[in-house]
Amino acid sequence: MPPGGPSVSQSFAPSPEFAAQANGKAELYDEASTEHEEFWAKQARDRITWAKDFDQTLDWSDAPFAKWYVGGELNAAYNCVDRHVEAGNGDRVAIHFEGEGGDTRTITYADLQKDVAKAANALESLGVAKGDRVAIYLPMIPEAVATMLACARIGAPHSVVFGGFSADALRTRIADAEARVVVTADGQFRRGKAAPLKAAVDAALDSGDNPVEKVLVVQRTKGDVEMKEGRDVWWHDVVDTASDEHTAYPHDSEHPLFILYTSGTTGKPKGIFHTTGGYLTQCAYTNSVVHDLHPETDVYWCTADIGWVTGHSYIVYGPLANGATQVIYEGTPDTPHQGRWWEIVEKYGVTILYTAPTAIRTFMKWGDDIPAKYNLSSLRVLGSVGEPINPEAWLWYRKNIGGDKAPIVDTWWQTETGAIMISPLPGVTDLEPGSAQKPIPGISAEILDDEGQPLHDPEAVGYLVLTKPWPSMLRGIWGDPERYKETYWSRFGDKYYFAGDGAKYDEKGNIWLLGRVDDVMNVSGHRLSTAEIESALVSHPTVAEAAVVGASDETTGQAVVAFVILRGGAEDHGDDTVQELRNHVAKEIGPIAKPRSIMVVPELPKTRSGKIMRRLLRDVAENREVGDVTTLADDSVMNLIKDGMSSGK
Ligand code: WT7
Repeated sequence: MPPGGPSVSQSFAPSPEFAAQANGKAELYDEASTEHEEFWAKQARDRITWAKDFDQTLDWSDAPFAKWYVGGELNAAYNCVDRHVEAGNGDRVAIHFEGEGGDTRTITYADLQKDVAKAANALESLGVAKGDRVAIYLPMIPEAVATMLACARIGAPHSVVFGGFSADALRTRIADAEARVVVTADGQFRRGKAAPLKAAVDAALDSGDNPVEKVLVVQRTKGDVEMKEGRDVWWHDVVDTASDEHTAYPHDSEHPLFILYTSGTTGKPKGIFHTTGGYLTQCAYTNSVVHDLHPETDVYWCTADIGWVTGHSYIVYGPLANGATQVIYEGTPDTPHQGRWWEIVEKYGVTILYTAPTAIRTFMKWGDDIPAKYNLSSLRVLGSVGEPINPEAWLWYRKNIGGDKAPIVDTWWQTETGAIMISPLPGVTDLEPGSAQKPIPGISAEILDDEGQPLHDPEAVGYLVLTKPWPSMLRGIWGDPERYKETYWSRFGDKYYFAGDGAKYDEKGNIWLLGRVDDVMNVSGHRLSTAEIESALVSHPTVAEAAVVGASDETTGQAVVAFVILRGGAEDHGDDTVQELRNHVAKEIGPIAKPRSIMVVPELPKTRSGKIMRRLLRDVAENREVGDVTTLADDSVMNLIKDGMSSGK
């Protein structure tokens, strides 16, 4: 259980002007708590266009396998694009694309409709049919959005793999989802340079059996690529030439929309899968009431990558279902200078900004003078997601980015929850820096102690659980229903969804999220599993055993720290060994998983039953006095580790 820490008590009431125009209303809380299903039925009918209305809001008879909006039929791509054009908003800008190198594209809803139709026709010409899986391994370019929506249109679940993941990570995800087609690009621009991407797809597919028949390649960087005869085709050959008309057939409300892999407590990533009607409803609802999106006037910018769930829900499905105008930026925040984001906010007049605490802390480090050079007065709502935001970063964000007035919404949710679950409502809630505050209308949570008893005492630390099914909940783990039940619905019985996060209430009844309680780390808002990095390390020929912990880090929240025992005969070459192992992890999983530090040790601390005591290693990694060692099989181990470190090994 993570430490509780004191709560800062300083709250910000909404301004009357903001409250008067806000989409969120205090009444929603009452409505949703008295009539849970009616509330969600209304959201679905008000916000989504159904080809066939549903006859049952929720079927929970086969819990924990939920069905929402039973009997309903819809097309997610039609909801995100076509219906806005039909409503006369075809000329509205859907996407202001800003490439890292400064190239731009303006895509209206009418343009997007054509782009999606062409991509859908092209995918079908490559053999993709309803139900087939398509892997998407693309940079942050508009083709990524068009491809996701094209898949949704056909009813072919997409599996987006973050462009920073390695060939190996891509291979396992392609295999698990049995993807027939991969959509990728020649390369991507990162920090002013073109980095290859297609090469990783080749490496992922070249080793033996794989289910992939076709690879569709967008030309982005014009770097050299090898096109494999009969398998690889260029986007500009097959998509640009395809018909720009495509019929959007309705799909069942429970038809799978996508699979997205996330790290769990074992080495094998979990394919979290989401379906159509419930997911789209909750994405549209939350984007409206939490981000306070007014599609006619706002310019919205979510800085996430589409490779993560935030990009799925709050770049693609939520904002587009709502008909938003949004900015999509390809690159890194410091290319070509550290004011790049603020330059973009000024240029497009961004009104709503949704980003992560790790980015905010980085900007704090770079200095107040950088955002101060730009006109940020258009910003009226700020959002935070991915990890707890410390009160200092919250206050800095409000003052330096929000002009001391923009409300900040700290939104707690997960890949599994599909959409925002715990957050203040801007214009309604008195904001408490550092706390995600309370479940949004329609969502119910509790904090339980070890025995599963609800905790309400201020500052008592327990486990966050969700107590009622919600529309955008995961429908399972792809191909592994047992793991779904065991991971989420067994810790406190089948009535409670176990989120894996520690939490507490403060004296005002606000919820404070305190980080993961399992062997999952949160590095810069990205979830990484200790087991996955450990198995990457032991796959190196010199490593006999490895233990990984998340140590607290000022900028990234947590950082990966690894302890390794070398194999007999393998020599410790100090820094060279460490570098080689760090690079090996980057190659196996991706650069985000690279340990901040690796310590070569003679032994690892283990209990008598052989379980590694990560708590003690975390003490070492965070330079603390080592805690209770009495349950160790051999309590001299910690001295060996500490001695090894102080002698510089
Ligand atoms: C885990 C989920 C939600 C999209 C991005 C991450 C942590 C997320 C918050 C927040 C405290 C947060 C939790 C959660 N988390 N948002 N506002 N405050 N913690 O999605 O990779 O599925 O990770 O991120 O620990 O369980 P994810």
